[in-house]
Amino acid sequence: MRSIRVMSVVNAVMTASLFLFSQGAPAQPVIPAEPFHDALRGTTPLDEEAKPPLIAPTENKDVIRGRAYAQQPPTIPHKIDGYQLDKDANRCLACHARSRAADSAAVPIGISHYLTRDNATLGSLSPRRYFCTQCHVTQADAKPLVGNTFTDVEDVRAAPGPSAPRPAGKK
Ligand code: HEC
Ligand code: HEC
Repeated sequence: MRSIRVMSVVNAVMTASLFLFSQGAPAQPVIPAEPFHDALRGTTPLDEEAKPPLIAPTENKDVIRGRAYAQQPPTIPHKIDGYQLDKDANRCLACHARSRAADSAAVPIGISHYLTRDNATLGSLSPRRYFCTQCHVTQADAKPLVGNTFTDVEDVRAAPGPSAPRPAGKK
């Protein structure tokens, strides 16, 4: 009986001090109660392992895709399964080296691939362009994993605005 009374006194003191504290504390930022969602892991919580989606099959259509911008590394329009690409050998160059292009009918590597980072032109592939798949990826019919609002420079120019002078004869 006595201990119950003591407890209720303690409770009352705690409630009062909590009340005082909450009056003085700065307002907490309101975090909207949205369910966790990530474009790559879906609704799987961070401390659980998400089931990986199936890898989209590589297209092998030999159809060169358009580039979204001039400096985009073109996508690879063929399969590259089993092509050795390491410090010992570069299978890509067997067809894409300038000297092989006539026989292979492959697009020869562009002039930028001969440039060092100081813009000196080398007689052969620049080491910084050796690992082709650092920049070039195979093609797949896959949906983008994250949203993208990129606009082609041609469309930016087409948009009306003071900084977009129209070529003569166009309205
Ligand atoms: C057996 C020859 C051969 C090999 C090996 C090869 N390619 Fe190709 N590649 C081609 C041909 C031919 C084309 C032209 C399109 C087509 O027929 O698929 C091409 C097209 C490309 C293109 C498109 C160029 C453009 O202007 O759009 C890229 C990029 C490319 N290859 C990258 C690579 C990479 C990277 C490797 C190595 C992992 C590689 N290729 C290995 C023959 C080859
Ligand atoms: C550091 C990134 C990078 C690496 C590594 C790289 N490329 Fe490229 N590649 C590009 C970019 C960017 C372009 C488009 C602009 C240009 O031509 O530079 C391109 C263009 C090309 C083209 C089209 C050329 C044309 O005239 O249309 C081919 C073919 C190509 N690369 C093949 C290769 C091969 C084969 C390798 C490996 C030996 C390789 N690339 C390594 C970035 C790279």
